[in-house]
Amino acid sequence: MKKNPHILSAQQFNLSDVLKIFQKATQMETVAKRQAKLHSHTKGVVLLFYQPSTRTRASFEIAARFLGYSVLYSTEAAGFFSSAAKGESLEDTIELFSNYPGVGIIILRHPEKGAAERAAKIADPYGVSIINAGDGTNEHPTQALLDLYTIYKLRQNQKPMNQIKLVLANDLDHSRTIRSLCLLFAKTFKPLEIGVSAPKNIDLPKDVQKGLKDFGIKILKFDNLKKAALWADFLYMTRPQIEYYRSKKIAEKFQNFRINRAFLANIPKDRPCRILHPMPIDSKNFNEITQDARHHPRCQIFQQARYGLYVRMALLKMILK
Ligand code: CP
Repeated sequence: MKKNPHILSAQQFNLSDVLKIFQKATQMETVAKRQAKLHSHTKGVVLLFYQPSTRTRASFEIAARFLGYSVLYSTEAAGFFSSAAKGESLEDTIELFSNYPGVGIIILRHPEKGAAERAAKIADPYGVSIINAGDGTNEHPTQALLDLYTIYKLRQNQKPMNQIKLVLANDLDHSRTIRSLCLLFAKTFKPLEIGVSAPKNIDLPKDVQKGLKDFGIKILKFDNLKKAALWADFLYMTRPQIEYYRSKKIAEKFQNFRINRAFLANIPKDRPCRILHPMPIDSKNFNEITQDARHHPRCQIFQQARYGLYVRMALLKMILK
């Protein structure tokens, strides 16, 4: 090969070049394996996001860097900017990354329900862990952990967790964060009851309702947010998930389910109600928590997001220990 070569065409290589590259590649096999072994105590993470994200992806990346783990690869819009756009299956993509030395965790967000389970089946034989960063309307387990951690940290007077009054509000039937949070809360701390509040004809999916009933938890329904806020220790607001509705003109449906400064000012001082939201808030279509309410003392959404970083650091540390 000449000095400062370009690699432009397969035709540029002669037999001698090819054999030299093969010889070097064989040496590199050893180097890669040695590197992976040297850093086996600090295996790296791969972030594959097929749906948009700010918090989950950023907090996992920051968590990995704070802990000294390598972020080996990170992509958003993987559906468009990976070989998925050329028809590659999720299984093949997961196997590709699992098969690279040094990969310890693949953090996956995908639009299809069950994608994380499919990925785990492929990654498992390689000793690689999958973290579900959201699969369609199914689950978002790390969000549930950070939501519960927020409740645990912010509850007043160390109130027992099983006595916490949590209201899940707004898009009950599409929100994966609601599904994951209420079932985790139910299973772990066994509250006596959980509140829900949403526009007419929007309810928790049947399997989630059954799950709560199986845990012996009563579901209280609030037909408006005001009543919910008077009852709740925590009012967990969610974004109307416009991407899952056929008609994009649904703002009217959710118009009475909005938290603004006046709403918060009307909650009597002796009521504990704190506002949580997994975020993002849809400031364009719904404004379900208005700008002027986002920094009201009752509204703890940025604190909640910060707790997410700590919880994700804990998870990485526990998996990659
Ligand atoms: N809550 C949450 O999952 O936020 P992102 O979509 O920004 O990751």
